[in-house]
Amino acid sequence: MTVPYKHEPFTNFTLEHEAEAFREALAYVETQLGQEYPLIIGGRRVVTEEKVVSTNPANKQQVVGVVSKATKALADEAMSAALSAFETWKRVSPQARADVLLRAAAILRRRKHEFSAWLVKEVGKPWKEADADTAEAIDFLEYYARQMISLSEGVPVLSRPGETNRFFYVPLGVGLIISPFNFPLAIMAGTTVAAIVTGNTVILRPSDRAPIVAAKFVELMEEAGLPEGVLNYLPGGEAEVGEYIVEHPQTRFISFTGSRAVGCRIYERAAIVQPGQKWLKRVIAEMGGKDAIIVDKDADLELAAQSIVASAFGFSGQKCSACSRAIVLEDVYDEVLARVVELTKQLKVGNPKEQSTFMGPVIDKVSYDKIMGYIEVGKQEGKLMTGGKGDDSQGFFIEPTIFADVSPTARIMQEEIFGPVVAFTKVKTFDEALEVANNTDYGLTGAVISNNRGHLEKAREQFHVGNLYFNRGCTGAIVGYHPFGGFNMSGTDSKAGGPDYLLLHMQAKTVSEMF
Ligand code: SER
Repeated sequence: MTVPYKHEPFTNFTLEHEAEAFREALAYVETQLGQEYPLIIGGRRVVTEEKVVSTNPANKQQVVGVVSKATKALADEAMSAALSAFETWKRVSPQARADVLLRAAAILRRRKHEFSAWLVKEVGKPWKEADADTAEAIDFLEYYARQMISLSEGVPVLSRPGETNRFFYVPLGVGLIISPFNFPLAIMAGTTVAAIVTGNTVILRPSDRAPIVAAKFVELMEEAGLPEGVLNYLPGGEAEVGEYIVEHPQTRFISFTGSRAVGCRIYERAAIVQPGQKWLKRVIAEMGGKDAIIVDKDADLELAAQSIVASAFGFSGQKCSACSRAIVLEDVYDEVLARVVELTKQLKVGNPKEQSTFMGPVIDKVSYDKIMGYIEVGKQEGKLMTGGKGDDSQGFFIEPTIFADVSPTARIMQEEIFGPVVAFTKVKTFDEALEVANNTDYGLTGAVISNNRGHLEKAREQFHVGNLYFNRGCTGAIVGYHPFGGFNMSGTDSKAGGPDYLLLHMQAKTVSEMF
């Protein structure tokens, strides 16, 4: 029997031996930078002429790695490899499939700091954020392995005398996994292994902004014993290669994490039944957020300020769960705002390879320009309290930025910025706070800081988000503890790390036998 699931503890970097181990991992990864990574199709290494170059966002000159670039022809090859592997993989026992994940978790745990160091280099995660990303990847492996074992027993249904009925789940087929840059290990690994442990085979298209961490993980899965063709690594190439696989008649499902625009496009394209297609494709979509923290008048205001700062600026606000709106009751507005500004001014922004850095860069030039554009919009829509400046000479650094007195309908209160920018708005009543919180197209996370039980209960019912937190920040969901996914334009509310997530990758079968 496997031991019960428990989430992976975060590393305590105040212990010198842990900090030293992390510095050693960073030094080791430094020696590994700049290597080339092939595509992996049916276990075969494929090197292409054209490449994607992954660079360090804190130091643009530093090449983290170079990957080959997919084409439509190679996508067809990956599809054939995945289809053929499906015929055998679907018959491998759920326990044996789960064991691959458990072994992968053990290997990843042993190499935890090394993977985190890759995250520091490839996407600019500060130590703690990188450590949490790796811990979450381990959690997904451990959690989904156990879920699969229990699901494989099926679910009891009724039978009648002379009749025995059974109800169980079977895999779907070939899935396309499209993963984001912001949790390039955890979300990439979680979405991939959920599809695999349920008996499907996949084509993985990691973000072009973080393909190296994904390559390392694919190698790790091979080491853990995953058969060839089950996980095909197909990064790079133009968006049309991804779209080609979305539209492919033999694609059975798509698991996407990324922007609202791309998610909506995938949903639309996947809905069209192509010539030769025998099923309706399933889409699992995890998209954006415009997440709010409400601060009640009767609340722990220090907790409120700390929660807003951590949720708004952790990983430079590049989380779909990030707090980008602070909705504060007028009675405490000035005090909370002043304290958040004070705390924010103390944050250390810099190269994430330094232990003391709280906030590193944003991911790339496109992102930098977009966020700086929103900061200009913010200057028209509110009062700039701190931050507002950027510096992209060395890496893509933007100061943590706060705007005050912003109207709930302002653009910076409605549109996802995906950067270190938070807007404050003042409300008169708690009911008004809930109204403002619910007035975007999204519905991913939210938090309420309050000592008022009646208000918390009202929020429990009326704050329309997939992940609602009371008296804490709105980021940092833990696998198995806070199943994660949102309402409305935040996606299909497919709860990653939750008890029903694996079912999205399977279909139920009923067998009724008469004796
Ligand atoms: N799961 C992450 C969080 O909760 C976001 O993707 O912050």
